Amino acid sequence: MMAEEKSNLSDSKVMDKLVSLCKRRGFIFQSSEIYGGLEATYDYGPLGAELKNNVKQLWWRDIVTSRSDIVGMDAAILMNPEVWKASGHLTEFHDPMVDCKNCKSRYRADHIDLEKNCPACGIKDWTEARQFNLMLKTYYGPSEDSSSEIYLRPETAQGIFVNFSNVLTASRAKLPFGIAQIGKSFRNEVTTGNFLFRSREFEQMEMEFFVKPDETTQWLNFWREERLQWYKSLGIREDRLKLRPHDDDELAHYAAACFDVEYQFPFGWSELEGIADRGTYDLEQHAKNSGKKLTWFDSSENKHITPAVVEVSAGVDRTVLTILVDAYHEEEVKGENRVVLKLNPKLAPITMAVFPLVNRDGMPEIAEKIVETLRGEFAAFFDAGGSIGRRYRRQDEAGTPYGITIDSETLEDQSVTVRDRDTMKQERISIDQLQSYFRNKIL
Ligand code: GAP
Repeated sequence: MMAEEKSNLSDSKVMDKLVSLCKRRGFIFQSSEIYGGLEATYDYGPLGAELKNNVKQLWWRDIVTSRSDIVGMDAAILMNPEVWKASGHLTEFHDPMVDCKNCKSRYRADHIDLEKNCPACGIKDWTEARQFNLMLKTYYGPSEDSSSEIYLRPETAQGIFVNFSNVLTASRAKLPFGIAQIGKSFRNEVTTGNFLFRSREFEQMEMEFFVKPDETTQWLNFWREERLQWYKSLGIREDRLKLRPHDDDELAHYAAACFDVEYQFPFGWSELEGIADRGTYDLEQHAKNSGKKLTWFDSSENKHITPAVVEVSAGVDRTVLTILVDAYHEEEVKGENRVVLKLNPKLAPITMAVFPLVNRDGMPEIAEKIVETLRGEFAAFFDAGGSIGRRYRRQDEAGTPYGITIDSETLEDQSVTVRDRDTMKQERISIDQLQSYFRNKIL
């Protein structure tokens, strides 16, 4: 069947269309929507939670379980406030902010041209730019005074640095080795937007790779290529991915060098992940402030050294957004518009939907049995609601790579049709061959 692609990056409405598809199909909802929502905060629905989980599982598999030199951990979100003094986040983790005096709109001063008029009201009357700390504060325990003030972590990395000695001792690791974790982070961003791209609550997948200081450049180069490759392995279009080195004036306070993996979103090239040379900054700062030794004994040199750190830091939500944007297609099929999410089968929330053509003649029972058989290995889903055309369209929008239909021929020869989401071609496969057919296709 011929399909002509209609929608691409030049379609300025792609983001709006994606937001509405995400709600319609149960990927992503606005948080507390029935109360008018909370700006830039999102909830993942049934399909979104599966997609997000698949992203995290693939990251964990590729970074932790498939490597012998990296271990995982899971630190608390709430930490002793001394951590943020030592890490420099209390004094350095801020963005410049300006307000339009006329309409009170607020902007990141480094995201707009202050020589130009306010984009909201068209008048040029800016306040002075001032620094705004991005950490979200809360109170710990029953009293609400400055002694009980703590912060929601703005990066998961510090949970790794403060546990450096614990993990080193427990896992008896040798350099180079890494510690990885996935978890929520919070930032009181001056401006948010572009759907999941910049929010105040988000999830990070971070890995701190501890190396001998003179090996930092070698490992920085290794990890930046690995990480770019990882996004390609998810099936993201290669011409929309690139590595960009940071200019000196955009480096974070802890970084000596940094590369961003960027994706070409409909709103422009933007950061997906940072791969940074954090040097010995964090371990030295925590050693100084805690009075604890955070070193590794180099037996070949017979001395204690402070390892340097190469960090890979990705956003789960940004990765989900990238996958969704990249997968979104609109095509014209036989004069009709088809919206389809061309998700990689490894990521798709539903791998195959199983459809009884009609709800009689034993077809639903056969479909349910097929679902039960495939479920151990794949995310198989039974769908009997509406015409077969409607079911295909629904599953195309959900990004389901395969549709299995039970029809009258099935009753005669125990075969079913398998429809490929992208080509819309159908093949007849014997029911007892389905498992091996999908194993060959997907695993
Ligand atoms: N530990 C280093 C670190 O946190 P970062 O560049 O500030 O570095 C790393 O953040 C990644 O976290 C970003 O590349 C992005 O994917 C994600 N991220 C950061 N701020 C975010 C936000 N406000 N909303 C969504 N994702 C965010």
